[in-house]
Amino acid sequence: MVKVSPSILSADFCNLERDIRRVSCADWLHVDVMDGAFVPNITIGVPVVQSIRKCTDLFLDVHLMVDKPVRYIDSFCKAGADLLSVHLEADHPTRITDALRAMEANGVKKAVALRPITSARAILPYIEQLDMVLVMTVEPGFGGQKFMEGQLETIREVRALIDKYNPSCELEVDGGVGPGTAERVIEAGATVLVAGSAVYGTQDPASAIDSLRRAN
Ligand code: DX5
Ligand code: ZN
Repeated sequence: MVKVSPSILSADFCNLERDIRRVSCADWLHVDVMDGAFVPNITIGVPVVQSIRKCTDLFLDVHLMVDKPVRYIDSFCKAGADLLSVHLEADHPTRITDALRAMEANGVKKAVALRPITSARAILPYIEQLDMVLVMTVEPGFGGQKFMEGQLETIREVRALIDKYNPSCELEVDGGVGPGTAERVIEAGATVLVAGSAVYGTQDPASAIDSLRRAN
């Protein structure tokens, strides 16, 4: 069964602890870190991840939408992240490698993320050492956007590369995932679904999580 990683970007930040408890049946918790440079929005930073770590045992899946993420790897690891995703567009390949090495040194799971413009083949230099690949199905920056259908093909291509080079690597899909799209996303090869508005925009987040898990 696929894992569901609710995105707290759609939570009420005045009631973050309550909203994290509301999704305690989830597999992971998705934390969107944005720096106002790599993406046009600013969200969560290291101190907030530190506080979240104290109030949940959920696996913290931290999505870094920041320029030159290598600068922040140690800090987010120490704050309590279980997995970090760095965008391949956010720095030169040598510094992406440095970022992955820093995750390894901290004992945190390693992932790279792809904007919709980036081809699946961009993961090739890293694939064998990764725990996860994150495919964006919206332009990163905001929750509640429409799923980009064209990205189903990228998901399939990433699935084929994972099957060939590193079959145990997770494939996470992020952006516009909900009841209308989850089935096709799973069919294309996803193993982890991120969902913000499809979980927090409903009266019953626990049952929304459950139906996403059963979407195929
Ligand atoms: C967008 C973020 C997503 C976002 C998903 O840049 O990376 O994680 O919160 O939100 P929904 O599920 O509403 O598209
Ligand atoms: Zn995200």
